[in-house]
Amino acid sequence: MNRQIAGVRGVSALLPHDTATWAAVEDLARSVLAAYGYAEIRLPVLERTELYARAVGEVTDIVEKEMYTFLDRNGESLSLRPEGTAGCVRAGIEAGLFHNQTQRLWYQGPMFRHERPQKGRYRQFHQLGVEAYGMRGPEIEAELILLGDRLMRMLGVKTRLLMNSLGTAACRARYRDALVQYLEAHASALDEDSTRRLQRNPLRVLDSKNPEMAEVLAGAPQIGDYLNADAQAHFERLTDQLSVLGVRFEVVPRLVRGLDYYTHTVFEWVSEDGGAQTAVCAGGRYDGLVAELGGAPTAAVGFAIGLERFMGLVTKVSADQAPDVFVMTPAALGASALVLAESLRNNGLRVEVHLAGASQKSQMKRAQESRARCIVQAQDEEAVVVICAGRNEGTVPWTDAVTRVTKALEAKTKHDDK
Ligand code: HAM
Repeated sequence: MNRQIAGVRGVSALLPHDTATWAAVEDLARSVLAAYGYAEIRLPVLERTELYARAVGEVTDIVEKEMYTFLDRNGESLSLRPEGTAGCVRAGIEAGLFHNQTQRLWYQGPMFRHERPQKGRYRQFHQLGVEAYGMRGPEIEAELILLGDRLMRMLGVKTRLLMNSLGTAACRARYRDALVQYLEAHASALDEDSTRRLQRNPLRVLDSKNPEMAEVLAGAPQIGDYLNADAQAHFERLTDQLSVLGVRFEVVPRLVRGLDYYTHTVFEWVSEDGGAQTAVCAGGRYDGLVAELGGAPTAAVGFAIGLERFMGLVTKVSADQAPDVFVMTPAALGASALVLAESLRNNGLRVEVHLAGASQKSQMKRAQESRARCIVQAQDEEAVVVICAGRNEGTVPWTDAVTRVTKALEAKTKHDDK
């Protein structure tokens, strides 16, 4: 046998066992997004590297060490998308979607980050992203949070919503200075990672998960104290609205997020996974990004669900893909079984035909495993036996098989509904 070729580490296929659940969740998400008036946008997987350097930030983990970047045959630096927001803004500007109009968009697909793979962290993972443009007030943030909240409730996903405000770029700059001053005064208490971040992206020091850093971080200045009056009022209006709408949330002053484009509100839905907190879905406002990427100043806010993490928390979804009918057939019958299966499908039924030429016994085993409600055993060129819900409905000529099966299934459905 030839040597097998292994897949790329942290990059895996989604197997048939899981695709049924994914498809059911995706279908539900589609209908919830439509109910809120969001339209799908399909974005490319490849973009110019400079898009991410400018949008996500030169000094972020994503751009510094996680991107899949390469020179194409023309010597141009391209990157596999590590996230969807930058590409959505780039495509929206190019297509003129943001000119004096509001947009509610969503996208879904694979993203790529060269992180250390572990449970819930992959090098190819999937996001469902939702982005809204042209709306300045906190109401659109509340709408997005309601949308995410509804999806999670419908699927039985248990999370906590954490929120914070980063204010405007000016508030952030003032806060940054104060934070750097504080951290420099406590330089001896910083671990290696934080010392590096202090120089390059001090807000990210607040993300440290090192318990030894907890004490020094607890005493650090908080961004809430550096918000200007407008930023404070914006955040207060949002939290008031969420309270009126009955959405539970926690304000976490240390929540800063790892991408540079955020302003004002940032939020994360987190789950508790064996004591560690994992972000399942995250986002915020990014009013500066459209202009940063060459468009006219445009208010913007959005979030992205990490689908692998999300699917792991779904408890309520029905993804039954069992066939209605399983057709067993002796090998000698050739294509006759296909003719029968086609007529059953013409009547709207889901049909699986055993075509592997196995014994009667192993075909029956497979038929039972398929959980089909009805089994049709082709005997010869003339007769078939119909078995529905374990009951033998008798032997009938081929010509009557479709009627017998549909009647038996109807009777079973009525019985089940009682
Ligand atoms: P992010 O926080 O970088 O934000 O990613 C969003 C979500 O993607 C995370 O909360 C997590 O569930 C999932 N995720 C990230 N990296 C991985 C990974 N290596 N493996 C598995 N899941 C992962 C963004 O990407 C922003 N574009 C969100 C946004 C949209 N902000 C505004 N609009």
